[in-house]
Amino acid sequence: MKALELSDFSTDLSTIALVDKPKPTPGPGQVLVRMLYSAINPSDFNFIRGDYKNALSRLIWNHSSAQENADLAFEPLSQNVHPKPPYILGGEGVGVVEQTGYGIIAKRLKGKRVALVAGPPEGTWQQYTVVDVKKSVVVPSELDDQQAAMYLINPLAAYAMVKDILDVKPGSWLMLSGAGSALSQMVIKMSKLYRFKTIAVVRSDHKTKHLKSLGADLVIETNSSDLKTEVYKATKGVGVDYVMDCIGGELLEDMQGCVTLNGHIVVYGTLAATNCQLYSRDLMMPCAKISGFFAGGWMQQKSLFQKLMILRNLSALAKQGIFQTQVDKVYPLDEYQQALTSASKAGRGGKVLFSHL
Ligand SMILES: NC(=O)c1ccc[n+]([C@@H]2O[C@H](COP(=O)([O-])OP(=O)(O)OC[C@H]3O[C@@H](n4cnc5c(N)ncnc54)[C@H](OP(=O)(O)O)[C@@H]3O)[C@@H](O)[C@H]2O)c1
Repeated sequence: MKALELSDFSTDLSTIALVDKPKPTPGPGQVLVRMLYSAINPSDFNFIRGDYKNALSRLIWNHSSAQENADLAFEPLSQNVHPKPPYILGGEGVGVVEQTGYGIIAKRLKGKRVALVAGPPEGTWQQYTVVDVKKSVVVPSELDDQQAAMYLINPLAAYAMVKDILDVKPGSWLMLSGAGSALSQMVIKMSKLYRFKTIAVVRSDHKTKHLKSLGADLVIETNSSDLKTEVYKATKGVGVDYVMDCIGGELLEDMQGCVTLNGHIVVYGTLAATNCQLYSRDLMMPCAKISGFFAGGWMQQKSLFQKLMILRNLSALAKQGIFQTQVDKVYPLDEYQQALTSASKAGRGGKVLFSHL
């Protein structure tokens, strides 16, 4: 079967190749999934460039491992270790469970259509993948296969940040950077349901009309307007209650000065690929706070009961169309170079997917 393998970290696509490998066999508590579609997300490029590995090597719990070039872990207990290339790429997708390993839950998934968060070393950019049952979810029948391929990562992150991390209150202002992203569009749709106001920050005007039609209260185009002036006007000089930032760099520096008293900034992406200067006093004066969010780490800390409730809530929101995501183009796996190039292009209309049909 065909699989997209990364042989080593790189900033271009030169270390990715389409390889032939044997169909994997599911172990205990695992299922073998025949993939239908898989999404190309910004996080996949983090696995290609080695951004996660670099960040993990700076963290205290990996301090000695980083020095010894040993395994780096996503969390202090080292239950989830960052894989080392070569590995098969692809963080999420949808497929049908064809074979199951030992275990009652695994057996019950046989023949079911499941969305999965897989990720290297056994990713979703291959014709078949094996995944722990804990990382696969039966998809609501209302979702078509392409939507089902994007059912977990962005919806989970959007829901977690709005309802848990920030706990956004009705009537408050939430400012989003990278607001044309699939995830931000979900949050804008959630704002209508939960009655908060949104300021959508984008770098150009190509999605402005669309974001307004989804319900954004204000769209700020940073290539033609001054962020602070626009936020000042919209909030009558008070500032925003919450910021969700996936860009970083200078934009995040500007946004730090836009929060109101007790404001809360959550950082969850680094699309500008540059860090920002933390202006301590910009946070101190308004008694504001800044937190980081990583969906895997957040979900891991939830109890089984909480996880089931989260999945139930996600399913309800999905059925209301909150997570409906535009698809830009679908490519077969062997056109991976065009697919990945098109997924990295500015001004893309929606998600790029791989079809495994
Ligand atoms: N921390 C977590 O657990 C977690 C979970 C899910 C997603 N995320 C993050 O959430 C972010 C959005 O993901 P997504 O899948 O929704 O993205 P997406 O649909 O692929 O869209 C990315 C958007 O970011 C904008 N963008 C890219 N580079 C930019 C830059 N340098 N300056 C300004 N705008 C830029 C693009 O703008 P244009 O339209 O102008 O090209 C595009 O609208 C990503 O950073 C992703 O890694 C994090």
